[in-house]
Amino acid sequence: MSIRPLDELSALSASEGREFSSEGSGGPVEIIRTDGLTKTFAGKAGPVVTAVDHLGLAVGEGEIFGLLGPNGAGKTTTVGMLTTRVVPTSGRALVGGVDVVADPSRAKQVIGVVPQSNTLDRELTVWQNLYFHGRYFGMGAEQAGEVADRLLEQFRLGDRAKADVASLSGGMAQRLMVARAIMHRPRILFLDEPTAGLDPQSRIALWEILGELHSAGQTILLTTHYMEEADRLCDRVAIMDHGRILALDTPAGLKRSLGADTIVRVGCEGDLRRLAAALATMEGARSAHVTDGGVLLYLSGPVARTLPRIFSVADANGFAVADLSVTEPTLEAVFITLTGKELRD
Ligand SMILES: Nc1ncnc2c1ncn2[C@@H]1O[C@H](COP(=O)(O)OP(=O)(O)OP(=O)(O)O)[C@@H](O)[C@H]1O
Ligand SMILES: [Mg+2]
Repeated sequence: MSIRPLDELSALSASEGREFSSEGSGGPVEIIRTDGLTKTFAGKAGPVVTAVDHLGLAVGEGEIFGLLGPNGAGKTTTVGMLTTRVVPTSGRALVGGVDVVADPSRAKQVIGVVPQSNTLDRELTVWQNLYFHGRYFGMGAEQAGEVADRLLEQFRLGDRAKADVASLSGGMAQRLMVARAIMHRPRILFLDEPTAGLDPQSRIALWEILGELHSAGQTILLTTHYMEEADRLCDRVAIMDHGRILALDTPAGLKRSLGADTIVRVGCEGDLRRLAAALATMEGARSAHVTDGGVLLYLSGPVARTLPRIFSVADANGFAVADLSVTEPTLEAVFITLTGKELRD
């Protein structure tokens, strides 16, 4: 719950605008565009769910663009519509200038997709998973074999070529899915929660691979509910909840929008709304937000003198501070400020 109105942050959603030009006219080319894109699911017994609600997006060629949001935010449904797997209820989506509803087969040529679950063919070896994908997209036998060999080396899977895909670790399977998705040289690579469930090393290995693809000019749209992933990888991030974009900017821009240099989490019990109201009046405090088991206090300027005063203010209001942690602004804090809830599961 916020103590100050959220107008400043909410205003961000109006700053979606980054102008892209159409192809051939110079400047960054717009490669993904959605207008009023909406998907509703009719619940069998329950109410209609609006999974994606009038989404307007523009992504430029060469960007790594992130959709960041909690479970059920509408990330997979958005990617599903952009990749022709889910038919929109209304609105429009273009990938590489191709309308995904009007011309799904041409749209499929433009995109590569790494879905949220493992879709490798378990009847085939690692190498064959790539080879047959290449053949499916019209490559000759020799070319498909060569590209499969090269991609396995590039994705650090060269020694696994003959292995069953079932023998791969989660990280290796995910790298193979990325290799397969880019095999036909799609203009846009979509990844849905690419590092969910991976151990930290595999996550970093995948980030490196995505970074290399990005450096080579690959446009990437990924979804994630890891704020660190969005922060580290993405040129721009759209924060989503309930099918809508709440804010859209560079990670630095989103964090700057908090207007704080430092965030102090004051762990405490009791009427946290009252504590937040008291802390928000302190010198240097920009705002205070109630969260699970504590208050987030946004501060500007140096904090050294403020920290002891937090204890005094809490004490004077009858609160016992259980713990205190100090961080720089994070995308998590942006999300909490926008929604009043935490991003994590
Ligand atoms: N096929 C479906 N039928 C009915 N409801 C659906 C269907 N697919 C998604 N939904 C609902 O739409 C909403 C958005 O779901 P979606 O899977 O797009 O979210 P998400 O952001 O990808 O979540 P997660 O982080 O859990 O993957 C949820 O409320 C979900 O229950
Ligand atoms: Mg999902």
